[in-house]
Amino acid sequence: MSISLIVLAAGQGTRMKSDLPKVLHQIAGAPMLVHALRAGSALSPDRTVVVTGHGSEAVAAAATDYDPDILTAHQATQDGTAHAVAQAEAALAGYEGDAIVLYGDTPFISEETLHRMVEARTRHDVVVLGFDTADPGRYGRLVMSGDRLEKIVEFKDADDSTRAITFCNSGVIAASAPMLFDLIRAVTKDNAAGEYYLTDIVGIAHDRGLSATAIACAEAETMGINSRAELAVAEAAFQARARAAALDDGITLTAPETVHFAYDTVLGRDTIVEPNVVFGPGVTVESGATIRAFSHLEGCHVSRGAIVGPYARLRPGAELAEDTRIGNFVEVKNALIGEGAKVNHLSYIGDASVGEASNIGAGTITCNYDGVMKHRTEIGARVFVGSNTMLVAPVKLGDESMTGSGSVITSDVPEGALAIARSPQANKPGMARKLFEMLKSRRAKQAKEAG
Ligand code: UD1
Ligand code: MG
Repeated sequence: MSISLIVLAAGQGTRMKSDLPKVLHQIAGAPMLVHALRAGSALSPDRTVVVTGHGSEAVAAAATDYDPDILTAHQATQDGTAHAVAQAEAALAGYEGDAIVLYGDTPFISEETLHRMVEARTRHDVVVLGFDTADPGRYGRLVMSGDRLEKIVEFKDADDSTRAITFCNSGVIAASAPMLFDLIRAVTKDNAAGEYYLTDIVGIAHDRGLSATAIACAEAETMGINSRAELAVAEAAFQARARAAALDDGITLTAPETVHFAYDTVLGRDTIVEPNVVFGPGVTVESGATIRAFSHLEGCHVSRGAIVGPYARLRPGAELAEDTRIGNFVEVKNALIGEGAKVNHLSYIGDASVGEASNIGAGTITCNYDGVMKHRTEIGARVFVGSNTMLVAPVKLGDESMTGSGSVITSDVPEGALAIARSPQANKPGMARKLFEMLKSRRAKQAKEAG
């Protein structure tokens, strides 16, 4: 069965009180729209159409950033969910398979639920995703008889007995695409909100002798986000699931509730993550690495046996080979750290490569930026960089070379050479004592003058 997705993302999200379109607010480092698209991608859709409205340029850009093949359709006025779906018709021209309607602000529908919808479609023309809830609030109510979905009644249009129903509409609907658009053409605005309700297609389907059903999923999956408070709840829900999944995958989290994951964090088995570690997007950690407390990682790869932190910062393009050591207050950006190399204290290594088994002394800085352009530092294998060396890029240190502590290295160091670039030391015998005496007598004189 071929599937396409129609993802509604035109709403303004007034309750977010934001200049940013609602679906671009982030959960675990990705816009909630991207979470919805990732959920839908489990069905390997033929085509995906995102319906944009408020902030349409930014929303479309986020969608095509995620996947350049995604199509977008613009809904100029928000006239209701059926009207929104209708905007996707041109993008699905000539497509005969199924369409599933998803929502950019409902990011947590599971793969398993979507597969169950597809399965139910083999028995019914229209399949709606519902959920049972103790607090049905203003959701549309699903009126069932057996497994037949009779109709969906919006809260505003419901009488008291219908409002008493606790089986609610998530909004997610599956049907054959040509039939879906055909049913939508019969939808009118004749309701309490004066909008084109997508939910009306169920009644219309019955009028045409078609069948409709609803399947249920956990309420947590259909969680919609309308306010900052709900965004925070969604973030917490995501983090709780990510922590549980990590523990289940054989990762040690010594204080799980303090570790923050991104939507795409990948940790290998037997990784140990200490308290208060933050993973930004794009992090892969191989088996058996240790990420020590208070480290912040983003866009980086950590190989087997590496130890990172405490208090380390790995920025995009940091690539740590096996058994490397990145210690406290060390920042690494766009740099390859070779096998067994150590950068243990208070350093910045950016736009650089460090060869295997090299040791970078405390306080070393790759001076990669000249105020206008960035330059590379290349450090060979088994190099010893003395503490507080400034490596003024572009610069290369050959294999097995050394720099003296406190050096400012501005030109290449040949293989095996020792580079010292600092002013020579001069010792003045007895001078310190003389200076102390002079200063003390000056202070005494000043105190006397002040009375
Ligand atoms: C809708 C359903 C309701 C369901 C609820 C679940 C209808 C008529 N009602 O109600 O049965 O219980 O969702 O949350 O479908 N959107 C557009 N363009 C529009 C209108 C909406 O893109 O013209 C998008 C919104 O951005 C939002 C989603 O569709 O993501 C749902 O719209 P919303 O107005 O929140 O519908 P509800 O009244 O909540
Ligand atoms: Mg809503």
